[in-house]
Amino acid sequence: ADAATIPALVIGTGYGGCVAALRLAQAGVDVHMVEMGMAWDTPGSDGKVFANTTTPDQRSFWLRTRTKQPLSNFLGFPIDKNIPKYTGILDAEEFSGITVYQGRGVGGGSLVNGGMAVTPRRETFGDVLPGVNADEMYNTYYPRANAELGVGMIDPAWFDSTACYQYARVGRKHAQRSNFPFVFVPTVYDWNYMKQEAAGTVPKSALAGEILYGNNYGKKSLQKTYIPKIRATGRVTISPLHRVSTVRPTTGGYTVTIEQLNTTGDVVATKQVTAAKVFFAAGSVGTSKLLVKLKATGALPNLNGEVGKGWGDNGNVMCGRANHMWDPTGPLQSSIPTLGIDNWAAGGAFAEVAPLPTGIETYASFYLSITKTPHRAAFSWNAAANRVDLSWQTAWKQTSITAAKTIFDKINSKEGTIYRTDLFGIYKIWGDHLTYHPLGGAVLNRATDSYGRLHGYPGLYVVDGALIPGTTVVNPFVTITALAERNIEKIIATDL
Ligand code: FDA
Repeated sequence: ADAATIPALVIGTGYGGCVAALRLAQAGVDVHMVEMGMAWDTPGSDGKVFANTTTPDQRSFWLRTRTKQPLSNFLGFPIDKNIPKYTGILDAEEFSGITVYQGRGVGGGSLVNGGMAVTPRRETFGDVLPGVNADEMYNTYYPRANAELGVGMIDPAWFDSTACYQYARVGRKHAQRSNFPFVFVPTVYDWNYMKQEAAGTVPKSALAGEILYGNNYGKKSLQKTYIPKIRATGRVTISPLHRVSTVRPTTGGYTVTIEQLNTTGDVVATKQVTAAKVFFAAGSVGTSKLLVKLKATGALPNLNGEVGKGWGDNGNVMCGRANHMWDPTGPLQSSIPTLGIDNWAAGGAFAEVAPLPTGIETYASFYLSITKTPHRAAFSWNAAANRVDLSWQTAWKQTSITAAKTIFDKINSKEGTIYRTDLFGIYKIWGDHLTYHPLGGAVLNRATDSYGRLHGYPGLYVVDGALIPGTTVVNPFVTITALAERNIEKIIATDL
């Protein structure tokens, strides 16, 4: 490799990318991280870096002129509104059968997500990564991921007393009365900070409806965990508003073409660098789209036929229930969910009691369910339209609805309540049009070997959620982080 060749280039700055960059840098390797989204380190005109859910603005969405909020309607009224086109934080990426929500910016999905940091129960790990040694994961890599991410559990006594989790206590009561096992869900929120928010002694974040468009204070996104450690190595440069468009082999490595964007999404410069090793960490959708395009257009023709396949939605489906007047869920709702109903073994669903942080009493209980579903889609190159398509069908969500109904039909019948029909459209019960948890597209042991090395191209690796074949049974980011820790350790030991 000549002097201009950089040792390692990482595409994307989410969980997989941050794990790879940190461990490579700690092993003495210089790393360049390329991120299509913004840095998210500068306050806007309101003094805050991030917007909240009650007043979305240009910061909220990736290159849209109108918001596309997960709940499209409330009490029958559409709630979306026009915003200026901007390289905002949440991408609602539309494929023909599904909208895939993703984070854009340095920190990837950690910027926008709910912070629920769940390790799957060991008995279910065979559903997640069948080819991976569970002992190693549960003894070494899950504990490492949990420690680095700062995962912690709510103080149960505070949960029982604080107004901001009244909605979750109602959810627990209804689960218990129908004999469903409820579990506290660990999170990466700073619980001491949330207690201070409730006491009114610090600026509010979870208690100000911050979620989806970033959290200004209490959530420990990657900006507060891996990224400071990455910067402290002195070996990593991060380029925000730079998007990788092509990777092709050259002497001594790979030539990577990178487009620099302005904040309205126009390409303002095109650059090329040569890297000895390239780590795909653009997320399940980002990595899959790149690999499928590069295989089909001749840049990386030797990628195998598994590239783009095995994509799933983690069985996401949402619904709301209308409570009786004696079961108010509270006008103040913490945006960080911390209670789940675990009916995975009996009915194939793990349901989170989610907030509706509207600031008013809604008498609604709202849930995001993660369900068992066999459906897997594939990405393919659409040459005529010059884009990557996804073969997902909206009707496949019926399996997830059926699984979720094993919980909520029973609760409704026990409580004498009904589903809300005003949240996802007019007279529409199920939020079946989206996922927050894209997984797969470059599946471990199929498109790659058992550590993420892409077949056909030594020096190309996948390190993100694209490796996971469609489900993590619970929320995915702890598993994505743990798998990345496992794989990069092996790669550093054997490939450098
Ligand atoms: P991730 O998507 O984090 O990062 C990929 C990065 O690559 C992005 O920053 C992207 O901009 C960048 N990129 C893409 N293409 C590129 C290109 N061509 N060039 C340069 N950069 C490129 N999970 C969980 O466990 N608990 C939870 O509570 C939630 N809640 C939640 C809410 C919402 C609203 C969303 C959208 C998601 C969640 N998730 C979640 C899911 C979780 O955030 C997600 O699984 C992980 O962020 C995925 O991590 P990855 O490392 O795979 O990619």
